Amino acid sequence: MDRKILEVKNLTMKFGNFTAVNSISFSASRGEVFGIVGPNGAGKTTTIKILTTLLPPTAGSASIADMDVVKYSSKVRRMIGYVPQLLSADGNLTGYENLLIFAKLYDIPSKELKGRIEESLHFMGLSNSADKLVKSYSGGMIRRLEIAQAVLHKPVLLFLDEPTVGLDPVARESVWEYVRSLARNGTTVIMTTHYMEEADAMCGRVAIMNRGNIAASGSPVELKASIGEPEASLNKVFEFYAGNKLESEDKNGNFKDVARTRRVARRLG
Ligand SMILES: Nc1ncnc2c1ncn2[C@@H]1O[C@H](COP(=O)(O)OP(=O)(O)OP(=O)(O)O)[C@@H](O)[C@H]1O
Ligand SMILES: [Mg+2]
Repeated sequence: MDRKILEVKNLTMKFGNFTAVNSISFSASRGEVFGIVGPNGAGKTTTIKILTTLLPPTAGSASIADMDVVKYSSKVRRMIGYVPQLLSADGNLTGYENLLIFAKLYDIPSKELKGRIEESLHFMGLSNSADKLVKSYSGGMIRRLEIAQAVLHKPVLLFLDEPTVGLDPVARESVWEYVRSLARNGTTVIMTTHYMEEADAMCGRVAIMNRGNIAASGSPVELKASIGEPEASLNKVFEFYAGNKLESEDKNGNFKDVARTRRVARRLG
């Protein structure tokens, strides 16, 4: 691995007396897919919000390409892409129009706009659907569009908060394939998931998070070996370290389903 793109040290987030993220540390290198897994309320989204500069931490630090996310927040924002847990595409616009909004948000020069949007539609396998309304897209297409939105400005680091929640296995596989190709091209991906099989299939390294703590981290192979069961599923590893089971859900996803699932996935307290 070459040098670190992301370095997180003793990162802590408290909401009043409640510690949502408890002094966690980890790092990620160029082109790595790093997974944060854990049950509802583990602190995954809170961690992502700090790393994407949206939430100032209570203590500890995080830096992206050696720039502190608090001190250099505007520079950091230009280097990252973020696909939030909740829906970020507008169903009443076409795929192309959604991308146009993000291209403007990212200040992409007007003479490059069309080319950049077409390139990213092509990369995410959406060229033929560019002029259709997003509310007619399947869940997998929506997620791919949201990823296309988030990588228009060619970020070095991409954050995906539960990229496949509510998707059927085929749609999930297609999102994985596109995320893998981004990583092959050098983008570092930090993703959260509830699905252990997803972490196993996608991530070079995984941090198991529970109640604000990282209970264990390492490659899936290392994690399995660490419980003395190299053939174990990652689910079993999770149960070992976090002491509870994860629910698995498989739903077909159109726009309405995805919007609903993600609303349900949102936890406020
Ligand atoms: N703004 C806030 N104020 C108070 N508590 C919060 C706030 N944001 C998050 N929390 C709490 O912090 C904890 C961690 O929440 P977070 O959203 O990071 O979990 P998560 O791992 O992303 O869960 P999920 O899998 O449901 O998305 C939860 O108990 C949540 O209720
Ligand atoms: Mg979350």
